[in-house]
Amino acid sequence: MILAIESSCDDSSIAVVEIESKKLLFHKKISQELEHSVYGGVVPELASRLHAEALPKILNECKKFFPKLKAVAVTNAPGLSVTLQEGVMMAKALSIALDLPIIPVNHLTGHIYSVFIEKEEVKPMMVLLVSGGHTKIINFNGIDDICEIGTTLDDSFGESFDKCAKMLGLPYPGGPEIEKIAKKGKVCIDLPLPLKNSSKIEFSYSGLKNAVRLVIESNKYKKEDIAASFQAKAIEHLVFMAKRAIKKQRPKNFAIVGGASANQSLRKEFEKLSLVYNFKLFYPDMKYTSDNAAMIARAAVELYKNNKFSDYKDIKILPRTGFKEC
Ligand code: KG4
Ligand code: ZN
Repeated sequence: MILAIESSCDDSSIAVVEIESKKLLFHKKISQELEHSVYGGVVPELASRLHAEALPKILNECKKFFPKLKAVAVTNAPGLSVTLQEGVMMAKALSIALDLPIIPVNHLTGHIYSVFIEKEEVKPMMVLLVSGGHTKIINFNGIDDICEIGTTLDDSFGESFDKCAKMLGLPYPGGPEIEKIAKKGKVCIDLPLPLKNSSKIEFSYSGLKNAVRLVIESNKYKKEDIAASFQAKAIEHLVFMAKRAIKKQRPKNFAIVGGASANQSLRKEFEKLSLVYNFKLFYPDMKYTSDNAAMIARAAVELYKNNKFSDYKDIKILPRTGFKEC
């Protein structure tokens, strides 16, 4: 078995997976959304202190698995350095106490493996990662063959929802809030489509966010209509760029992962695209769209098979490490 720890942002989570069967034997997560909500976003130092309280509580429930563990996996990149630190410290302590190797896991790789929890890998697969920290199109061809086709030049997709929600006076995290009120609104405001003249595969959300700010300041529109119009344009931009990558590579498999993959309008637009371009579409179960240790554990199973171990003396925290360019 492998015990996996996730603490890259504002979710403290631990999972235990059986290596051969990939069965998830334990999974628990304590979210800090409520604590950060008053500040309208994640406060790193507060997040770190909350991890220090929550992780040992969850670990206490896993003691029965300790004799059967072969390794301890932990998210070491990318994320907030002070919160990554909490998970890595716990992994180091377990490594020393139980004499186990450590498997460092990239959080973004974890999100890709969220579609393979208790399942076999599907590859090759094109992946759209949409979270609070990232917006990327990726080529996935196995645990040691992942590269980035395109990324964002500024804000991420999820972050733009969080910022627009804040401007509209909605709580954090803003993604689900915008989605909820957008259902009652109409797409009736003409907002700019980001990078429509760019010939590359890349994303940008800061211009759209600014346009939303001006619309809010004009006091001419209902919140619901602003949310609906913003959401539609934000998704149109994803579809516009993803289509470019799909037309070029004609993938057979396509996955949408990350916290924002929970968005139902986004899923609907990609379902339409899957019919036109004839690919199989994958998403994580709703309980695994946002940060969790089950996806870290699933990725760790593949890393274990590839002997990707570290020990407590050399594991590094790499807050900014992503994927190489394709
Ligand atoms: O993957 P995740 O839990 O954390 C990061 O690794 O960043 O993603 C969180 C992000 C937040 O920005 C949140 O607002 C966004 O995902 N999100 C959504 C939805 N649910 C969560 N964005 C749009 N629509 C949603 N339904
Ligand atoms: Zn994440």
